[in-house]
Amino acid sequence: MEYSMSGGMAVSGNTLAFVEEELGRLHETSLYNEIRTLESEQGAWVVIGGRRLLNMCSNNYLGFAADPRLKEAAKRAVDRYGVGPGAVRTIAGTMSIHDELERELARFKKAEATIVFQSGFNANLGTIPVLVGRGDIIYSDELNHASIIDGCRLSRAEIKPYPHLDLDALEDMLKADADRPGRKLIVTDGVFSMDGDLADLPGVAELARKYGCISMVDDAHGEGVLGSHGRGIVDHFDLHGQIDVEVGTLSKAFGCVGGFVAGPAELIDLLKQRARPFLFSSSLTPPEAAANIEAVRILEADDELVSRLWDNARYFQGEMRRLGFDTGKTQTPITPVIIGEADRARDFSRALLEAGIFAQAIGFPTVPRGTARIRVMISAAHTREDLDFALDAFGRIGREMGII
Ligand SMILES: Cc1ncc(COP(=O)(O)O)c(C=O)c1O
Repeated sequence: MEYSMSGGMAVSGNTLAFVEEELGRLHETSLYNEIRTLESEQGAWVVIGGRRLLNMCSNNYLGFAADPRLKEAAKRAVDRYGVGPGAVRTIAGTMSIHDELERELARFKKAEATIVFQSGFNANLGTIPVLVGRGDIIYSDELNHASIIDGCRLSRAEIKPYPHLDLDALEDMLKADADRPGRKLIVTDGVFSMDGDLADLPGVAELARKYGCISMVDDAHGEGVLGSHGRGIVDHFDLHGQIDVEVGTLSKAFGCVGGFVAGPAELIDLLKQRARPFLFSSSLTPPEAAANIEAVRILEADDELVSRLWDNARYFQGEMRRLGFDTGKTQTPITPVIIGEADRARDFSRALLEAGIFAQAIGFPTVPRGTARIRVMISAAHTREDLDFALDAFGRIGREMGII
């Protein structure tokens, strides 16, 4: 290492030259993320750059992120437990509020037990390496979320992606591997986050049973959205007890942050001993845990918000199709508005911003090249007037850009 006369460290050769090059490439290909900063709370309307904008791209499906009941619960928890957990769960970071959240979630999900993580991402990273390891096989839908992909990589098991939703192809793979020793895991998103389509979970459960595989679903976009009172995709397909491992997030419809796994009590017990983000990263803060408990209680008591979310989604998607937009194959409130090339999607998003609408463009590598889109996220917090305001702007900009 060299030091300059002034005492600072001299750079011998520019080892970080690649950073500038890589950033340059992202800009050139219109794939550089323009990060917008909200100056208000999360809601149907937000303030960005001093302007009030209609928010069409958050995962705040039920409007819980700024719900006064959740805010109050969080404030009460701060008064009682303080702001931080102080440690990881296995040392001194388990407070009664964490145990309570896990019990409430288990009741809500109709599962034997749950374990709470700091995020849905961590839930996948922590869980998959406990289920399988070296010498085992994972069958993973090719469009699974990044956190599943990373969890699979961390496990060191052999990863075999199967074509999106193609259970015939999956069965061929399972047949071919029938004599291979070791554990086998089939893992899928419940709702695919970029397209809004659903996994054929009954089919996955059936194949897992037939070929002796562990079955796992990541229901991040189904929690609070699908099933009775938003209990998720397992409830939607009435598969209670038939999927081994259910991962959920508290960062979308629940309006807070956090993730969890619901499943058999013994599995949850083992995850609490082995899942690395649980063992080596501090737990949810008390206000987060409390707000999540409040969200579960509200959902259990009343599914009015879930109904409103679906009414809004049906209305908006129907009108968008009538206008001539390609909204893909969504089966949920996720509404992809397919534009095509990344620069066109970026221009569309900028025009929407000018018109008072916040809706980010999404391009490669989050979605395949040539399918860049505006991913509209519908919320129960939107009023019919909000949706009409958005439809007006989408229609006008779509015509101006020759997209419809
Ligand atoms: C399918 C899926 N799994 C996991 C996550 C991560 O959830 P969290 O934001 O709680 O980390 C997401 C969020 O984008 C997701 O869509």
